[in-house]
Amino acid sequence: MKFFIDTANLDQIREAQDLGILDGVTTNPSLMAKEGIKGKENIKNHYLKICEIVDGDVSAEVISTDYDGMITEGQDLAALHPQIVVKVPAIKEGIKAIKFLSSIGIKTNCTLVFNQGQALLAAKAGATYVSPFIGRLDDTSTDGIELISKIVEMFNFYQFETQVLAASIRHTMHIIQCVEAGADVATCPLSAILGLLKHPLTDIGLKQFLDDYKKVNG
Ligand code: G3P
Repeated sequence: MKFFIDTANLDQIREAQDLGILDGVTTNPSLMAKEGIKGKENIKNHYLKICEIVDGDVSAEVISTDYDGMITEGQDLAALHPQIVVKVPAIKEGIKAIKFLSSIGIKTNCTLVFNQGQALLAAKAGATYVSPFIGRLDDTSTDGIELISKIVEMFNFYQFETQVLAASIRHTMHIIQCVEAGADVATCPLSAILGLLKHPLTDIGLKQFLDDYKKVNG
């Protein structure tokens, strides 16, 4: 499973990159706003800074909701850097835009996916990734991980090349559940990734090893 980090925070992206396990980055307009990045040029520059830090795909979201706007914006974003993946919402105009952008060789990430039907249409349109939002489904008493499993099963059955990118991951257990469900990618907050390393027996064992070493080596 590939690991993406779900943030526009450059320090966190660097920290995940330094860990050596990072395969890409996802952003969205809310994450950009959280970092105080505003204005078209600043936003574009910020995507470029992210591309300089990581080697893999960097999702940059369109803010248009009509077909013409999405394909113009999508082509502008894609022209910024070869690592850019154009993130498009799972709405009617978005599916049309994904079809067009895919047909001219631009990678796409269909975002705000909450059911199998949206994932199916995105895959048929040629999306590189579909992003089911598992945390937001969990927030509505609906099992987000179950949707990941169902989409993975559907894509395997019909041999779609579209990758399932589990998004809206809120904590470490979500990552483990994504592995079990067979997600291709999990895009996670840094805290959830670092949580994978947490175990008291590791800390206790390490302390014991170091104490024993000191006893005989001083
Ligand atoms: O990848 C999508 C993500 O940014 C949404 O996460 O926590 O706002 O539901 P959240």
